[in-house]
Amino acid sequence: MRILQLSAEIFPLLKTGGLADVTGALPSALHAAGCEVRVLLPGFPAVMAGVESAETVGQFLAPWGETLQVRFGALADVPGGEGPLKAYVLDVPGLFDRPGNPYEDAQRRPYADNARRFAALGWAAAHLGHGLDRHWSPDLVHGHDWHAGLACACLRLWPDAGARRVPSVYTVHNLAYQGLFGPQHLEEIGLPQVAFQMEGLEFHGQISFMKAGLFYADRITTVSPTYAQEIQTTEQGCGLDGLLRARSESLSGILNAVDDAVWNPATDRHLARNFDVRRPGGKVECKSRLQREMGLDDAADAPLFAMVSRLAEQKGVHLVLAAVNSIVQSGGQLLVLGSGDAELERAFSLAAIQHPGGVAVHIGYDEALAHRIFAGSDVTLIPSRFEPCGLTQMYGLKYGSLPLVRGVGGLADTVVDADLATLEDQSATGVVFHDFTDEAFQYALRRSVALYRHPRAWAKVRRSGMRQSFSWIHAAQQYVSVYQQLIGH
Ligand code: ADP
Ligand code: GLC
Repeated sequence: MRILQLSAEIFPLLKTGGLADVTGALPSALHAAGCEVRVLLPGFPAVMAGVESAETVGQFLAPWGETLQVRFGALADVPGGEGPLKAYVLDVPGLFDRPGNPYEDAQRRPYADNARRFAALGWAAAHLGHGLDRHWSPDLVHGHDWHAGLACACLRLWPDAGARRVPSVYTVHNLAYQGLFGPQHLEEIGLPQVAFQMEGLEFHGQISFMKAGLFYADRITTVSPTYAQEIQTTEQGCGLDGLLRARSESLSGILNAVDDAVWNPATDRHLARNFDVRRPGGKVECKSRLQREMGLDDAADAPLFAMVSRLAEQKGVHLVLAAVNSIVQSGGQLLVLGSGDAELERAFSLAAIQHPGGVAVHIGYDEALAHRIFAGSDVTLIPSRFEPCGLTQMYGLKYGSLPLVRGVGGLADTVVDADLATLEDQSATGVVFHDFTDEAFQYALRRSVALYRHPRAWAKVRRSGMRQSFSWIHAAQQYVSVYQQLIGH
């Protein structure tokens, strides 16, 4: 089965969040499950720098009259199963060669030409589906998030009615980011007027790339079973729940996994000492080093709560800010690595100044520090308002940093709350709370501290967490069965 994976990000070349971790790990797992995978990426600077011996394979005319080049090469740093991952890049410097964030300018405003940029990506996928590369064409296109949504529409509405129909799978990583553009962009994106209606990509008078994916893809997946249910409700459907309910037969949740080559405390090169479930001793040194590195008191017995996150409303950061005093008063420490909303960044920086030795904050993006934090902390905080899957709770589990999560989306699917029954049968792996309130969150913090004060129970829960397996092979097999339903191999 030949699969073309389409995304805007890929780890380790370009990452703004969990999407990149997923698109970087899935190709080699799909390869192991019997697929031949190539990826298509926009030619962002980091991607162009990571692609080796890229040769032009073809070009096509964009709806606005520009000729766009597609190159083909290999991504030396991304595993593809057999050697480096094979990749097409849409090499259009005018659209993609910009420093910094791939979607926004330095003032965090979305680029004014995003409709054009990601329409170009969609058309590139459709052209590859229809023979742009004479040597290889996919049986199926698998697109990720709104950046890839238009590809599903371009494939379905491909102008040559006699051409083979190339099916598409569309994976929603976050329904809240939709790629909305004014109706004046319709001509520019090159789709017929018929697409701009309720039975199409029109969303309250706007063009929605997310809806293009949801409406035109042959199958929709999302990144956890619980989120697949939640997005069919008015509360969590972001206005698209009606469409998702109508398409529920074509929608399923496939839980993300963890790339063991990147996230494994036994082999992680970012750690001062490696450790694993049988020899967890190294974690003590990781904690002490982390405390010193971050300017926290070097207190082995202070429960160290950590958060590695985009600082956005979705992540429940207000709950954490409101709990700073009670964490410190209970003898705990708080460590935050994050970036995002400027006001939230300021609020956390202020909390660190107010609690020297008890609260440490690093504003920015730092992959290596993230690894050291999961290894050195005791609890990973993820009190999200909603969470399609969430990866950091799984990293926390693997690194013996018990997740304290709100029971939504993928968090509900991956963490088992510690209570008397789950402690007894050893299924407990963390702490789960439900109401999105300061009281509920702070009560969960108290429960974590109490558990921490019972070292034997704590060690048991940590052991069960570290033993969890989140294998990409398992997830890849589920994707393959979705592909098979469409192309019947
Ligand atoms: P989301 O994709 O919604 O941001 P996930 O939990 O799925 O949430 O994935 C977040 C990914 O980004 C994880 O790999 C996490 O370690 C990483 N991450 C988030 N913020 C930072 C940061 N400031 N520095 C380093 N890594 C970060
Ligand atoms: C999104 C979601 C997150 C998920 C990630 C990878 O960014 O917010 O929950 O883990 O995508 O699928």
